[in-house]
Amino acid sequence: MSSEQHSPRGRFITFEGIDGAGKSSHLAAAAAFITSRGRRVVTTREPGGTALGEKLRGLLLGESMHLETEALLMFAARREHLAQLVEPALARGDWVLCDRFSDATYAYQSGGRGLDRGKFEQLESWVHGHLQPDLTVLFDLPAALAGQRIAAQARSLDRFEREQAGFHERVRRAYLERAAAAPWRIRVIDASQSPEAVGRTVEETIASHCR
Ligand code: TYD
Repeated sequence: MSSEQHSPRGRFITFEGIDGAGKSSHLAAAAAFITSRGRRVVTTREPGGTALGEKLRGLLLGESMHLETEALLMFAARREHLAQLVEPALARGDWVLCDRFSDATYAYQSGGRGLDRGKFEQLESWVHGHLQPDLTVLFDLPAALAGQRIAAQARSLDRFEREQAGFHERVRRAYLERAAAAPWRIRVIDASQSPEAVGRTVEETIASHCR
């Protein structure tokens, strides 16, 4: 037998939800859970995840710009992220947990900003037609509740967090529409429950969906 064995491709799991849904802390806990089950895990985020991507993130979260520039930069950062980090990790057999991915572009730039989603379908097939998440965990809660959680954190807000509640409610609806259209991939979790209950559901979802 050859000593060069191909490790099976890892799993690609994305975490989504409106700002204030609490996904980032659950992502860290999920990484620990998967590691405890004997898998190597890489955690990352979008926009970002690479040196160039983090620079683009700074611009995207801080500078005002044309709405289409914003959408194109999201996909540019994503292209770099896939090439430099996500695809090599999956090829090594690592599991990749990513804080936001293309569902966020549909939810924010189409649902929230009102851009034509057909353009994103073209960009998506260009940038990652060959790759989709194995599982997307969608943290769902009403925008008003998410807004209260953000306000309680007493920190400076980025360009998206400063948007009105109506924007975040449209983002939420767009996420739920995507979940309804791809129920085999996107699992909706009620993020208004206690952090402990949400954490347990995240672990159960990952354990049952990804082996
Ligand atoms: P977020 O993931 O909420 O990070 P943090 O927890 O540090 O605040 O911030 C990223 C922001 O970028 C978020 O408000 C949503 C936005 N975003 C888009 O509008 N489109 C996208 O495609 C992505 C990936 C993110």
